[in-house]
Amino acid sequence: MSTLTLENPTSLPLAMTQAAAEIDQALDVLLPVPEGAEARLFESMRYSVIGGGKRLRGFLVLEGARQFGVSRQAALRVACAIEMVHAYSLIHDDLPAMDNDDLRRGKPTNHKAFDEATAILAGDSLQCHAFTVLGEEDTHPDPAVRIELVRMLAKAAGPRGMCGGQMLDMMAEQGKSPQDEAAIGRLQTLKTGKLIEFSAEAGAVLGKANLSQRHALLSYGRDLGAAFQIADDLLDATATAEEAGKATGKDAAMGKATLVSLYGLDRARLQAERLVTQAKGHLDAFGDKAELLKMLANFVIERRS
Ligand code: IPE
Ligand code: IPE
Ligand code: MG
Ligand code: MG
Ligand code: MG
Repeated sequence: MSTLTLENPTSLPLAMTQAAAEIDQALDVLLPVPEGAEARLFESMRYSVIGGGKRLRGFLVLEGARQFGVSRQAALRVACAIEMVHAYSLIHDDLPAMDNDDLRRGKPTNHKAFDEATAILAGDSLQCHAFTVLGEEDTHPDPAVRIELVRMLAKAAGPRGMCGGQMLDMMAEQGKSPQDEAAIGRLQTLKTGKLIEFSAEAGAVLGKANLSQRHALLSYGRDLGAAFQIADDLLDATATAEEAGKATGKDAAMGKATLVSLYGLDRARLQAERLVTQAKGHLDAFGDKAELLKMLANFVIERRS
């Protein structure tokens, strides 16, 4: 059986399945359920972060790190940290005060399975735990690397990253603020792009890569993130809830401005394809070793979930 340790793995689905299993195992170890009443909080965190999702962000960390021979154990910790922040963002995104969704990853959203207060705390706790993991020595022996990862993730998730983008997203509903291509692009860069950029760049930081290597992965992440959110919006317009594992058709129903609402399906798809080609171009210097990352770029716009 081929494994991710091969120099040139050829099967993206196999590599992603394997990475997802490793991430789940690592999360299980990082999130043991304690005795006592706070066990409910840990159950709620585990409910949303373990055993679901494509693990795109975690996979990006692992593949980025593999370019530089970083230990799998260290890379997995960073993969878990970004998946924890991502899961927190989804729990809060699904709350009644935001998108008010009942279905996520094919099962009830966190606040439906638990309750709103628990869901808020589970999101907060996943975020905090991600930074605890990044800060611990097992993540990297050099404290400067750990601080850099903490700084990068805090920035990517915060007001100039995901949270800022979520604010713009809320403002973009029902024409509360004017939306042209530039405004939508900015919204998407912040809301989705920044966590994906972090994921692509983190392996280079772990591996103390040189600036041009780091920049190449960051640029790849930037184009991939933009293509990824267009694909999410295309899926919202074209996939069934069963395929997507979450409610679809919501952007149009909420009057949310996306490239799909602005330009229609075909032009949005073309734009995503252009971004994918551009993303792959940034990886040329990595040679065959980056083949899975190139395949991942194709997958991002071909996926149905
Ligand atoms: C969904 O992200 C939220 C967006 C940023 C569009 P994913 O599509 O990566 O969700 P999972 O992790 O696979 O469930
Ligand atoms: C959410 O975007 C992105 C974040 C959670 C930051 P969406 O609201 O489009 O994501 P889905 O479609 O619910 O997964
Ligand atoms: Mg949303
Ligand atoms: Mg949503
Ligand atoms: Mg969406």
